[in-house]
Amino acid sequence: MKKNFIYLKTIVVLIVILLFHSCGNGNNETELLSPDGKIKLIFYLSGEGKAGYLINYSDNKIIDTSYFSFDFQDQESFGKNLEIVNIFTSSFDQTWQTVWGEQRFIRNNYKELKIELQEKDQNKRRCFITFRVFNDGVGFRFDFPEQENFNDVVLLDENTQFKLTGDYTCWWSPGDWDIYEHLFNTTKFSEINALAKGGNEALAQTYIPENAVNLPVTMKTNNGMYISILEANLTNYADMTLKVDKENLLFQSELVGNDSGIKVKTKTPFVTPWRLILISDKATDLVNSRTILNLNEPNIIEDVSWIKPTKFVGIWWEMHLGKSTWDMKIGRHGATTENAKKYIDFASANSIGAVLIEGWNTGWENWFGDHDREGIFDFVTPYADYNLKEVVRYAKEKNVQIIMHHETSAAILTYEKQMDTAFALCKSLGIHAVKTGYVGQILPNGEYHHGQWMVNHYRKVMEKAAGYQIMIDVHEPIKPTGLRRTYPNLVSAEGLRGQEFNAWSPDGGNPPEHLTIIPFTRMLAGPIDYTPGIFDIKFDKYKKENQVNTTLAHQLAIYVVLYSPLQMAADLPENYDAHPAFQFIRDVGVDWDTSIVLNGEIGDYITIARKERNTNKWFLGSITDENERTIEISLDFLDEGKSYKTTLYQDAEDSHWDKNPTAYKIENKVLNSSDTLSLILAPGGGTAISFIIEE
Ligand code: NOJ
Ligand code: CA
Repeated sequence: MKKNFIYLKTIVVLIVILLFHSCGNGNNETELLSPDGKIKLIFYLSGEGKAGYLINYSDNKIIDTSYFSFDFQDQESFGKNLEIVNIFTSSFDQTWQTVWGEQRFIRNNYKELKIELQEKDQNKRRCFITFRVFNDGVGFRFDFPEQENFNDVVLLDENTQFKLTGDYTCWWSPGDWDIYEHLFNTTKFSEINALAKGGNEALAQTYIPENAVNLPVTMKTNNGMYISILEANLTNYADMTLKVDKENLLFQSELVGNDSGIKVKTKTPFVTPWRLILISDKATDLVNSRTILNLNEPNIIEDVSWIKPTKFVGIWWEMHLGKSTWDMKIGRHGATTENAKKYIDFASANSIGAVLIEGWNTGWENWFGDHDREGIFDFVTPYADYNLKEVVRYAKEKNVQIIMHHETSAAILTYEKQMDTAFALCKSLGIHAVKTGYVGQILPNGEYHHGQWMVNHYRKVMEKAAGYQIMIDVHEPIKPTGLRRTYPNLVSAEGLRGQEFNAWSPDGGNPPEHLTIIPFTRMLAGPIDYTPGIFDIKFDKYKKENQVNTTLAHQLAIYVVLYSPLQMAADLPENYDAHPAFQFIRDVGVDWDTSIVLNGEIGDYITIARKERNTNKWFLGSITDENERTIEISLDFLDEGKSYKTTLYQDAEDSHWDKNPTAYKIENKVLNSSDTLSLILAPGGGTAISFIIEE
């Protein structure tokens, strides 16, 4: 057994049962309840042999009868004329320890129903459907075993349905095959219009073939329950989008393909990713769920000593502001040896563990404009004014890690050829983290960022990096699906509209409500490299037409609200120097023993408290949208009987995300678990609090 895994409790029961019953009308149904009995999953086989399911929650139907089928090239579709061959049920209850994460111990507790189906006609193709019912949701997946007459598989689509029982409110982003960097929209299901463009002129690639949404998509039912649809363990398959069938109140899967029209090429045996439906009474419980991790396999990396969550600064925001450039030839090069040392000194003086340096390698001179993106970077040749070895030596002396940067320019085949050499260079220099990037349309043409071919590429990079003891933070990624459990070197990802949009987006950047939606949508999938901590909110010196659309206190609060084991202090060092509020960034943790979502409503506000791993410190972040708000908080999450030196970083009375974003106040108090707080959040504002036990 691996050292880093402590199996505290494992109960596995497997029983073959005869639960199935006929409903008199030729239909067959079987039920499975969640461990606490609140969720009821009903598997359904219609008289014509069509397989489906429905879900009840606290006696309300929240997913109505929904069917599955698969379309293949040169084969009949699979999904009708089926009969049940076998039914297996089991239950599972295990608590496991994370290498890093939102919490140290995670309970994996579910009931399972596995049904073997076979076609009644001469094809006799077989498939298993496995349902796992947790207290906070239902996961299911399809498993096509090895079988006669069904070897090579060319999938033209998977048609998995999620039939709503009303015109739910949806928080959705368009089903783009190439990028997740769209704002989330809040509309009724019947008003989803993913094809309406707007605000994305800045994107280097985007392809939205129809009225569909990307996952996660989160919904509120008409009687106030919350649902989010996600995927877990996306392996050798295509990303699932959901197309919108308004007439039938139906979300139906539409896999991302390529220009040949093929969605997935594989062979039997193969298994689809888990389709996961989180369900709860409260929006906050969606964020407390760890079920996506439970639907992934345990860690396979034995030695995890080199995987270390950390804060970092970087030669990054200055390029997005235009203060300096990635390209050396322009004459304002950011990644010089001297500038890198300045950031290293700053990190070292402020307990920041690492420095990211972008624009260090040759090739950026071909980055913009009409150049052929194939092979412009080699990831080993530094620009003449950047002495890589000297920077690494200096960082070591100052006890600071370097984060390497690989902008692949989406030239995939070239990167795959270069990867070994590039990672070997990192290893020889003692570098354990690489930020990768995939800006631009995928080369070779005809593939998309979220198709099976790219899913396999992202996997290759992650596995290869693990072999060189390298953590990966992917920009322009495939969305997270909980693979970080199996590969804890997959530490973070972008995959949303990050802070960078505030620096240059022609639509004015991310609106104040943006980060009050993200925790309930994108963040359900996994860690986010948002790059928080901009203090010079208006940055008029560099760009008059852009700004961050939050207050400074909100920027602090998102260190707690947004989860990432790699968390950037993104602003220029000169904006942090001697700034009293920077103390929060120095103090705040990045790896957690416990995380609790205290309150929140999607698109309005959210408050999260997290206890740091291996210290007794607690941190709290609370943010609001464009509306001012008072948030009442009980401190009963704090350890009982301890008294905490509490520092509150709050909006000032006249703070406002646009009119007065940098006004803030800092207050010190001594508080304990029986105290309460009334936090006043300005429009677009927030509060960040550190609680440190008094010695
Ligand atoms: C887009 C990434 O999101 C950003 O962080 C990076 O600086 C640029 N690409 C350049 O690679
Ligand atoms: Ca990006």
